Amino acid sequence: MIPVCRLEDLPEGESVRVDTNPPVAVFHAEDGQFYAIDDTCTHQDASLSEGWLEGCLVECPLHAAAFDLRTGRPTCLPARRPVRTHRVTVDDGVIHVHLMAEEGTAA
Ligand code: FES
Repeated sequence: MIPVCRLEDLPEGESVRVDTNPPVAVFHAEDGQFYAIDDTCTHQDASLSEGWLEGCLVECPLHAAAFDLRTGRPTCLPARRPVRTHRVTVDDGVIHVHLMAEEGTAA
């Protein structure tokens, strides 16, 4: 479980990049939910945290592939492979991301 930032530091419609390995992008979507996906686009080497957020989709800043934040799946070309999704929780006003690889190993 990795602390990301305080709740008030990630307003709706904003995103933040977390320097994990591989990096993760955390979004505060327009539905009020928080979502985390791998930050690197599966098409080429663009940072999805710098993309455009619309509803529950993020559009890659380089060639405009869009990914569904809920599933990680691309909704249009040129990306074909999904990004991984990660669980997000808020504890004591702090946003945390639970990397997919950590799931099942947490105590
Ligand atoms: S790098 Fe994301 S669509 Fe090309």
